[in-house]
Amino acid sequence: MVYPIVKFGDPVLEKLAVPITVFDDELRKLVEDMFESMYAAHGVGLAAPQIGISKRVAVIDVTFKEDPEAKIVLVNPEIIHTEGRLTSNEGCLSLPEFREKVTRPRTVTARAQNEEGKTIEVTGDDLLARALVHETDHLNGKLYISYISALKRDMMKRKIRKLVKQGEW
Ligand code: NI
Repeated sequence: MVYPIVKFGDPVLEKLAVPITVFDDELRKLVEDMFESMYAAHGVGLAAPQIGISKRVAVIDVTFKEDPEAKIVLVNPEIIHTEGRLTSNEGCLSLPEFREKVTRPRTVTARAQNEEGKTIEVTGDDLLARALVHETDHLNGKLYISYISALKRDMMKRKIRKLVKQGEW
């Protein structure tokens, strides 16, 4: 099932998401729906709050369906190691049409569980590193705009307010 993506302004995006304690079919269905919703929205990462579900689950596929092995499920993820810095354009499905330069670690290791409850560690560079921290941030109610300048953030919020008024957000 494809869920609509929640946009910036919805309080669910700024809430601390709840840890997963039960690894059942319901969770596995959620993960499946999240991949479907992410692909439908042309994204490479999606966190459960972005479909209005405040739970600590995220999915990533930086190859966008090219490599089935690249599908990553992160349940209760934590960032356990970061290295280096890389500044690059970053976007978010909850802030459609916007992209800003954000400095992130170049290499990131996350520890999480998969949908079966097994502990996993994922290490990635560049785009995958960015996705790991971006999606984990979502579960802590944090969006990438908190890393850009206040001036740019205010400009963005002004544009969004305008879009809301026009019924386009
Ligand atoms: Ni995002």
